[in-house]
Amino acid sequence: MYSDIKAAVMGSINMDIILSAEKLPDIGENVLGSEYSYACGGKGANQAIGLSRLGARTRMIGKVADDVNGNRLISNLSENKVDISGVSKKGSSTGLAAILIDGKGRNRIIVYESANAEIVPEEAASFITDELDMLLVQFETKEEVVIKCVNTAKEKGLITVVDCGPAKNFCLEKMQGITIITPNENETEALTGIFPEDEETALKASEILFGRSKPKFVVLKLGARGCSVFDGENIHFLPSYPTEVRDTTAAGDSFTAALALEYKRSGSILKACDFANRAGSIAVSRVGAENSMPTAREIISFI
Ligand code: RIB
Repeated sequence: MYSDIKAAVMGSINMDIILSAEKLPDIGENVLGSEYSYACGGKGANQAIGLSRLGARTRMIGKVADDVNGNRLISNLSENKVDISGVSKKGSSTGLAAILIDGKGRNRIIVYESANAEIVPEEAASFITDELDMLLVQFETKEEVVIKCVNTAKEKGLITVVDCGPAKNFCLEKMQGITIITPNENETEALTGIFPEDEETALKASEILFGRSKPKFVVLKLGARGCSVFDGENIHFLPSYPTEVRDTTAAGDSFTAALALEYKRSGSILKACDFANRAGSIAVSRVGAENSMPTAREIISFI
């Protein structure tokens, strides 16, 4: 379905330590956990694996260290058929994320950037080549690297998809004319000062994002409410697919990968948003980051 599409992702690659507890500790509090695991993650790597699992030919651009975690993460990308020619092993240490999950599947994440913060803009941009169809980026690497890569991709005529995680007030003005910008609720608030709690605030926030970066589409990820899409004139709301929430980690990554591919395939942003809503619902029903990424067949048959 997506095997003709050639995608690149520039972004973070992390080893995730996942710890679950019914209730997460308050400051100074010590609680007993119910389970823990190590898993391959990082917003960039999750999205690359998401794209690859959906069938796209995918290149990862990023940095790890030549250490145990870095080597494990690179092997994992390869095992998932991701082209790792754009991943440098010259970082000082590999990125790490501590993910705490409560009894309702909600998470809190601390990321130690490390190698992800050492990516050199020109080096990363050199892997964004003419034969690619699209570039996906997130905000878990340095701002100047994201800007350089997005503008390089735009010059080459690629579709550019900007996932705005983690929440920060990024300089969107330096990336004019991207194809899709897609923040979640907290990221929207960090970028616009408005939490999209209802249709009116979602529209206001979308207008601000549109004004700041002049994208083709602003797609807000609205959690259990689904998503909205704004094209500069009209806003549409698309509901999510109800499911049992086990872990929300990487649901946004899964959404972004599905959104990008279905937009490229169908040319319809509404079809792409519906497809992405399905992918996000499947991801929250599974524990882990990249483990949550569905295949195209799973998304199509998901109701
Ligand atoms: O989006 C989920 C990801 O955020 C995790 O895999 C973790 O590494 C953090 O980067």
